Amino acid sequence: MSAGPVLGIDDLPIRDELRGKSPYGAPQLDVPVQLNTNENPYELPEALVRRIAERVADAARTLNRYPDRDAVELRTELAAYLTRTGRHPVARENVWAANGSNEVIQQLLQTFGGPGRTAIGFEPSYSMHALIARGTGTGWISGPRREDFTIDVQAAEAAIAEHAPDVVFITSPNNPTGTAVAAETVLALYEAAQAAKPSVVVLDEAYVEFSHRDSLLPLLEGRPHLVVSRTMSKAFGAAGLRLGYLAAHPAVVDAVQLVRLPYHLSAVTQATALAALEHTDTLLGYVEQLKAERDRLVTELRAIGYEVTESDANFIQFGKFEDAHTAWQKILDRGVLVRDNGVPGRLRVTAGTPAENDAFLEAVRALKKEQHA
Ligand SMILES: Cc1ncc(COP(=O)(O)O)c(C=O)c1O
Repeated sequence: MSAGPVLGIDDLPIRDELRGKSPYGAPQLDVPVQLNTNENPYELPEALVRRIAERVADAARTLNRYPDRDAVELRTELAAYLTRTGRHPVARENVWAANGSNEVIQQLLQTFGGPGRTAIGFEPSYSMHALIARGTGTGWISGPRREDFTIDVQAAEAAIAEHAPDVVFITSPNNPTGTAVAAETVLALYEAAQAAKPSVVVLDEAYVEFSHRDSLLPLLEGRPHLVVSRTMSKAFGAAGLRLGYLAAHPAVVDAVQLVRLPYHLSAVTQATALAALEHTDTLLGYVEQLKAERDRLVTELRAIGYEVTESDANFIQFGKFEDAHTAWQKILDRGVLVRDNGVPGRLRVTAGTPAENDAFLEAVRALKKEQHA
């Protein structure tokens, strides 16, 4: 095929709301210490790698067939994991799984959002909520946060009452700021959302295993419009697997079936996720190490003289910088990649291995000295 005349995206008949936009994605740079995408730094243990190989080999024998469309075994095991760790009984009928929690969120917005409907999030927060809203034709409302990045309940209730959104996103622990949201806040916003519409409230708990606080799964009791979304990308150290899931009333699980693609979760994905769930205890052991490293980073960053936002996640927001992007570049020049999320004066670092964290601390110590020189 000849290339033809030079053609750009905007020369194509794309949807108006996509014009001039860039795809989501952090820079993937080849530097020694990569602490920019909130990944778990620990590779999977050898015993788990072998178990994945066994389970995938079994799945491979029947790859001529479509996979279990309802992912029954996987949803059963995810429900057991939630019941064991979330202080709340969860059954398979309450659980739905997809390719990463991003796909879970997309399915939720396809079901409850869409053209003529709106969603709200309290920003700065996980920017994919807004981007998936755009991709699904859902209007996006940027809700407020306080200067210290916590949610101002009264202001948030007022925004919900004013806009009556169809979907409300609450992220706890929040990305990129790191702080967990109190149960009372979620309850107040749920009530406000029910009074205004009623709307679906999505509580994004992608990082909850790293929190000082318990999961808010028990809030599902008696709240059919609440959805808790989770992922195996962070605590299970399986970002490459692409497995996210939700817990909600069975009616919500039935509703997302209306938009899911048939056989969306491959047999290989289901087999791999099941193997990882067999090794939950080992993987949660790594989470404990990462929590200790996260707390060490908070203490050391404060000792160096940085302002640190309280963190319940596997990452930390720190600053203040006159120009966050220049600071990001200077840290990168020292071989450490952190994240500039566009929050003025702040950067975000993911907790890595002790050695990676030491390299990061050395880089930001040097930066501080340079600023004072
Ligand atoms: C708050 C939050 N939710 C969801 C996700 C998506 O995770 P995944 O699609 O890998 O499950 C992320 C990833 O960084 C996140 O930060």
